[in-house]
Amino acid sequence: MRKLFIAGLFIAGLTLYSCHSSNADKYNENEVTSNAPTPPPTTMEGNPLPKETPAATASAESKGGIDVNAKSDSKGVGKFTDANIKVGSAIDAAMAAKGKAVFQASCTACHTSTTQKLVGPGLKGITKIRTPQWIMNMISDPVKMTHNDPIAEALLQDMNGVQMTNQNVGDEGAREILEFLRQNDAQ
Ligand code: HEC
Repeated sequence: MRKLFIAGLFIAGLTLYSCHSSNADKYNENEVTSNAPTPPPTTMEGNPLPKETPAATASAESKGGIDVNAKSDSKGVGKFTDANIKVGSAIDAAMAAKGKAVFQASCTACHTSTTQKLVGPGLKGITKIRTPQWIMNMISDPVKMTHNDPIAEALLQDMNGVQMTNQNVGDEGAREILEFLRQNDAQ
């Protein structure tokens, strides 16, 4: 019986002790998370660190070694050529409206119709630097283009290897999107 009493005292003592230590921990934690302002970073000598240097001005050349923003007469690689794609100067508003709908459904996950880059380049101004055939070939078979056309290849490198996927919009869909892009650039 006496032994039990001593054991009980011992356990009570232990419990008290552990309560005390956990309180002490809390107190320490509070001290660590005080709101004292952190001093600004300095060099070893105590001088303030230099401000970040501005990024080097982007060169006109892309990683692929050619200027992807330069105007090109290339028709690209694919089924659309001068023989089957003829584009007048007038814009067909009804066709452009259809193209806008296809563009919104199939392309806006990766492209804007402004200069803003998303996954792929912003497409504002595209009809001023690429031919209708090149654009339609890119829409219809982007993988063939990035493997065989020097501009598309360079674009792929600029996008760090992110490949445009074929959206299967069909020949008519590609032509309608082209009309929408032409209208977008005429505005
Ligand atoms: C999964 C994302 C993705 C989708 C969806 C996509 N593209 Fe692209 N697109 C890209 C990328 C990335 C590039 C750059 C080439 C590459 O890396 O494959 C590109 C390149 C292009 C280019 C050439 C741009 C230039 O500066 O010459 C055109 C034109 C284009 N896309 C049109 C379209 C159209 C129209 C659609 C919808 C039918 C579409 N893309 C759907 C990602 C996409």
